[in-house]
Amino acid sequence: MKYNFDKAINRKNTGCKKWDGLKTWYGEDDLIPMWIADMDFESPPCVVEAIERRAAHGVYGYPIREDSFYEAVTGWMKRHHGFSVDPSWVVPSPGVVPALAFAILAFTNPGDKIIVQSPIYPPFFSVIADNGRQVLVNRLRLEGGKYAMDFDDLERSIDSRTRMILLCNPHNPVGRVWKEKELSKLGEICLKHNITIVSDEIHSDVIYRGNKHIPVATLSPQLLESSITCMAPSKTFNIPGLATAINIIPNEKMRQDFQNVIEGLHLATGNVFGIVALEAAYNRGEEWLKELIDYLENNINFLSSFLKKRIPQIKLIEPEGMFVVWLDCRELPIESAHLKDFFAKEAKVALNDGITFGPGGEGFMRMNVGCPRSTLEEGLLRIEKAVKSL
Ligand SMILES: Cc1ncc(COP(=O)(O)O)c(C=O)c1O
Repeated sequence: MKYNFDKAINRKNTGCKKWDGLKTWYGEDDLIPMWIADMDFESPPCVVEAIERRAAHGVYGYPIREDSFYEAVTGWMKRHHGFSVDPSWVVPSPGVVPALAFAILAFTNPGDKIIVQSPIYPPFFSVIADNGRQVLVNRLRLEGGKYAMDFDDLERSIDSRTRMILLCNPHNPVGRVWKEKELSKLGEICLKHNITIVSDEIHSDVIYRGNKHIPVATLSPQLLESSITCMAPSKTFNIPGLATAINIIPNEKMRQDFQNVIEGLHLATGNVFGIVALEAAYNRGEEWLKELIDYLENNINFLSSFLKKRIPQIKLIEPEGMFVVWLDCRELPIESAHLKDFFAKEAKVALNDGITFGPGGEGFMRMNVGCPRSTLEEGLLRIEKAVKSL
């Protein structure tokens, strides 16, 4: 290992939400934070150096994105995901959630229905409701410890007001990296009903052994033309605070409509540090990412065997990718509404409350394992003690 992911870094008093926001979000600040999805690791040295070099210049005026920015994106998409992207298809945005909002405003009308596959990352609900559209829930099915899409329910619930689906691939929080067969079937249904696929693929670079990420847009020329792919280096390289994402929109009319929304809101300007960080990460971050994935996979193995041996009432939904995992806590003698408080007040660990992920999230909690093994172990020891004292 060239990079040291065991290194514990004190993030307190850096204005970070995960550590410094504990009091606000959990009412206490002596918790081990394993909630919001950023990692406690340093970004790759190539990213840190690129930011330091840019910072040393001392002038941080309005940036432009040079050809090198777009080439870094297209190079990464080709090498990692086999997705041949023309640089002209790439539209930057300040984040992936903002991009979901732009897509909703660009491609749907007030009152239209937008599908989400629940349980899902909470902003998928709010970004629809906040923009005056209706959420159409298509619940995932949990079968034999693994989640699957429910295509029958999907077909049944689509009506003439249904215009879009916010797809999450890989799916936060349930850890699925959707297979080609599943995406093809979903794509077929969406094409049949003229439903635009907005595919959030922000977690697609962290994929575990035996799985492969497939961008839905690569499945057919029709899907390429009717979908948009929202991506970012933010989760992969631990730079979400740099507010830099990109969206791949091959269809010219859709791209123009999306860009018009961004321009109407005057949000096209980039972030000086986000631009250099993206280029460094996508051009030179590969070796670091391989080691990160190995480290995370070992964290997940550690978590899995710890739970099996010492806290069998909590079951891990085995993830196929991502550094956030979904824990089935339904065997604990605690009502769903009290789980968050149990973990925060009794175990002194901050997890995301399953209920916030919508229907199907009851009795589950989301845990972030993007931390040194020692932090994970300390969190698990605390949970074990709290469960034993029930
Ligand atoms: C599926 C998914 N989409 C989007 C985001 C956030 O993206 P951004 O910070 O770029 O808005 C997250 C963060 O956890 C996420 O898990």
